[in-house]
Amino acid sequence: MKLILIAALNPHRLIGRQGRLPWHYTADMRHFRQHTLGHPILAGRNTYESFPKRPLPGRPNLVLSRDPAYPVPEGVYLCQTLVEGLEQGRRLATGKLFVVGGAQLYALTLPLADELLLTWVPDQAEGDTYFPAWREEEWEEAESRSEGPLRFVTYCRRTP
Ligand SMILES: NC(=O)c1ccc[n+]([C@@H]2O[C@H](COP(=O)([O-])OP(=O)(O)OC[C@H]3O[C@@H](n4cnc5c(N)ncnc54)[C@H](OP(=O)(O)O)[C@@H]3O)[C@@H](O)[C@H]2O)c1
Repeated sequence: MKLILIAALNPHRLIGRQGRLPWHYTADMRHFRQHTLGHPILAGRNTYESFPKRPLPGRPNLVLSRDPAYPVPEGVYLCQTLVEGLEQGRRLATGKLFVVGGAQLYALTLPLADELLLTWVPDQAEGDTYFPAWREEEWEEAESRSEGPLRFVTYCRRTP
């Protein structure tokens, strides 16, 4: 199973503001949907609560929370540990598990990630939540395309 982190960030690695996205880019929403549809997504509890419509339709939603009583509707998988989340992702057997944030989840899973699907957004917004720093030498740019002000880049982990 490929573990893929998907995120939109600005040049300072900003990803969030007061529990929400600091921006709204329709093209990025479309990109997110196209990549994740049909595959399980793993979200931190804060990010899950930030979805305008939850669960996100068309893909199994896995929510990471330490609270065993956190209420989720039927069909949503509540996971109390990352290991549980990874196992559930594997059981769903689509070949990919997308980590969809937020900052805590990205930091937790970056060391295990095979791929980063990053959308670079312009340096305009302000906020309070950041994608973790990564070691550039561990990643190579495999693909990129631009759409308006956005740049979509796929980074693959270099084999040592
Ligand atoms: N730009 C982007 O692409 C993007 C994508 C996603 C999110 N975001 C933004 O990121 C922000 C949210 O990020 P965040 O860092 O505050 O929260 P988060 O990572 O979404 O969720 C954190 C929560 O996940 C659970 N958790 C974390 N580590 C865990 C572990 N090891 N074991 C079990 N549970 C664990 C805890 O839930 P409990 O407290 O319930 O135990 C924790 O409070 C929002 O502003 C959101 O809009 C941006």
